[in-house]
Amino acid sequence: MQSTNDIRRSFLDYFAAQDHAAVPSAPLVPYNDPTLMFVNAGMVPFKNVFTGLETPPAPRATSSQKCVRAGGKHNDLDNVGYTARHHTFFEMLGNFSFGDYFKEQAIHNAWTLLTKEWGLPAEKLIATVYHTDDEAFDLWRKIAGLPEDRIIRIATNDNFWSMGDTGPCGPCSEIFYDHGDHIPGGPPGSPDEDGDRFIEIWNLVFMQFEQDGQGNRTDLPKPSIDTGMGLERVAAVMQGVHDNYDTDTFKALIAASESLTGVAATGDTQASHRVIADHLRSTSFLLADGVLPSNEGRGYVLRRIMRRAMRHAHLLGASEPLMHRLVPELVTEMGQAYPELQRGQALITEVLEREETQFRRTLDKGLKLLDDATGDMSGGEQLDGETAFKLYDTYGFPYDLTEDALRDRGIAVDRAGFDAAMDRQKAAARAAWKGSGDAASNEVWFDIAEREGSTEFTGYTSTSGEGRVVALVKDGKEVQSATKGDDVTILTNQTPFYGESGGQAGDVGSITTPEGLSVTVTDTAKPLGRLHTHQSTIDTGTISVGDTVHMDVDAGRRDRIRANHSATHLVHAALRNRLGDHVTQKGSLVAEDRLRFDFSQPVALTEEDIAAIEAEVNAEIRANDPVVTRLMSPDDAIEAGAMALFGEKYGDEVRVLSMGQHSDDGKNYSVELCGGTHVKATGDIGVFRIISESAVSSGVRRIEALTGEAARQWLVSREDALKSLAGVLKTSPDEATTRVAALVEERKTLEKELAEARKQLALGGGGAASGPADEDIGGVKFSGQVLDGLNPKELRGLLDEAKSRLGSGIAAAVAVNDGRAAFAVAVTDDLTEQYNAVALVRVGVEALGGKGGGGRADMAQGGGPDGGKADAAIAAVRAAIAE
Ligand code: ALA
Repeated sequence: MQSTNDIRRSFLDYFAAQDHAAVPSAPLVPYNDPTLMFVNAGMVPFKNVFTGLETPPAPRATSSQKCVRAGGKHNDLDNVGYTARHHTFFEMLGNFSFGDYFKEQAIHNAWTLLTKEWGLPAEKLIATVYHTDDEAFDLWRKIAGLPEDRIIRIATNDNFWSMGDTGPCGPCSEIFYDHGDHIPGGPPGSPDEDGDRFIEIWNLVFMQFEQDGQGNRTDLPKPSIDTGMGLERVAAVMQGVHDNYDTDTFKALIAASESLTGVAATGDTQASHRVIADHLRSTSFLLADGVLPSNEGRGYVLRRIMRRAMRHAHLLGASEPLMHRLVPELVTEMGQAYPELQRGQALITEVLEREETQFRRTLDKGLKLLDDATGDMSGGEQLDGETAFKLYDTYGFPYDLTEDALRDRGIAVDRAGFDAAMDRQKAAARAAWKGSGDAASNEVWFDIAEREGSTEFTGYTSTSGEGRVVALVKDGKEVQSATKGDDVTILTNQTPFYGESGGQAGDVGSITTPEGLSVTVTDTAKPLGRLHTHQSTIDTGTISVGDTVHMDVDAGRRDRIRANHSATHLVHAALRNRLGDHVTQKGSLVAEDRLRFDFSQPVALTEEDIAAIEAEVNAEIRANDPVVTRLMSPDDAIEAGAMALFGEKYGDEVRVLSMGQHSDDGKNYSVELCGGTHVKATGDIGVFRIISESAVSSGVRRIEALTGEAARQWLVSREDALKSLAGVLKTSPDEATTRVAALVEERKTLEKELAEARKQLALGGGGAASGPADEDIGGVKFSGQVLDGLNPKELRGLLDEAKSRLGSGIAAAVAVNDGRAAFAVAVTDDLTEQYNAVALVRVGVEALGGKGGGGRADMAQGGGPDGGKADAAIAAVRAAIAE
């Protein structure tokens, strides 16, 4: 028996031998088509190659492409578990010709592989062709020698394949395998074709057109080939079984599920095991490709699939979360062909376990509510929409899970009622929000959010991608299109642009189309917390609602923002380590050129604190540990040690960012709830430099810092400043401090010497020993001096000297500087009864054009604006003594 892995290998080898480039499977999230939820066919990654927008990787290619059909146009979720061939995840084997060969060679290759290489009996094969495709009909006769009654013309869309409402399409020819007359069913096109006997195994599409969504088809640049063979189906054929779930891969997964639950996959339990096996594949592959469970978009489809499987695990009586324990078996079966499963194993396991643990908390209660609501019902009845909504809203039951749970009993669910309940809840939320004021400016965002749902952010893993324009807002109002020169806000269904939030700046970049649209995005905001709005200017061309556009974030700028954002997490942890657990984040700004972090802390940080924090952050950067993102419930996150931001509102699910490792206990250095974008490993931050520490308000301090190239440039500019300083000092940078200290010392000495010299000069010039001429005024010794340029501070010392010289007497002195006069009078203690220095100073001050003066009876000072009257002041004192 050929294993599924062998079959995949031999398909790829066969086409590689026919000069086809073997191309690895593209990720499940399409990078090139915003209208598609998941890659659902092998040709999706080549869509733009068929239409001529992209150059082909080679003229011919072959691949085994991962596909998910759940959500969107091709949705098989509801049937999975109950049929032989429905899957949410499957592999499509394909060969592609990009304008190289066409119908003849495609049919020849297919026929040779099936009948010669793989040895399938020709008589068990049937081909269909589009009813007007005589060429294909004749080729099947010529190449395969099929009799006319086994080449069936089909007039329906079954034989006209299209990727979706838009994109490449063309007539196709399908190859069916006859599983034998013991199975009911007729050949394609017959009344009982829906039976299970004739199974389509390979679809050869003759790609010829591109359709635009309005029903218009234009010729592709060159006729091309796209083929798709479901690996699971062909494995069933090659392994001689009828049911895909009986092939080796599924048998192994189901056996693991049987052994872990202790329940055999027979009768009633078979569907549950099949659901689990199928959903294990789709959820694991989606997780490996970066989709995480959420309540919106792709993440919600993933959650729906997960929870559907988890209910079936519960149905089998699993008392512990089951799905994550099946991952090792999946990796054994498929990890070699898809190494991303091995790489992602830890993440897949962790997310599955958390989701199941979380869901099990409400599952029992929800099922009880469901039992109570449907206990009296019988087949053909309907569960009311209100209850289905309550199950959704309160117990986390996706709508299709409720449907699935009632399926066995033939009870349906009132979808319209469910939708109406959902609408009522939205209206209530809007009304509550309107009451909060600020309504008018945001009204338009509410309209758009209600109509279009939230914007899906694809920018955690990529800085470019495609988006479909869902709304354009100009001057606060919705418009259908905008053109060159317009300033307009663009909304797309998905975007790699980060909308400003959580302190992180919004992205800038460009939006373009191959038709010549060129838009500059100057900022991205995030109104209502769920729309990403691109504030833009149209440089050339026209943009309209419905357009598919290419979106490019300015990736260099985003990298700098990432580094700054991750650095704020590290500085937060370092601050707490150094200063204590009272440190909590009070705000932050993460921009392209710097970061700012505000935190609670009563006193200023010391230089040593700052140096230690900076050193610790840099040590974490050098450790270059991976930055790990996990998704959990807020409670689990806080339990895991995450530092939540007080006052932030978190949804059911939060992103938890972990960085660094403690060597002693293996715990993470930093764990935080954060929706921002981050570096892959701490080393990407480069270097971290604190450039300021200051107060913001009482009890709140602020650190400003730089990372990476900005930090390096800042350090270089400091070094340059030091060098030029050393240049001026005529010394080396290392000696500059000593040199400056010596200069400061020298200056002090010189200042002292200068003051002394000035005094000497004022006292008589040139340091000569001629003192003032002392007088005798009616028996009282008096010394009066006018000193130009004497520092007023020196007056007191000068008068003290005069007093000791006089022994008993009165001394007065005026220091004149820049035309102003400082004046002082001293009286020896024996004379203070008769002469008061304060009174004498006032007399002199008046002569100097001033007022007042003060001090004590033995020493008083004052001053006046009129330095030219210095001699008059002395004369006035003299006269006052004589009185
Ligand atoms: N693209 C074709 C299909 O999906 C082969 O069936």
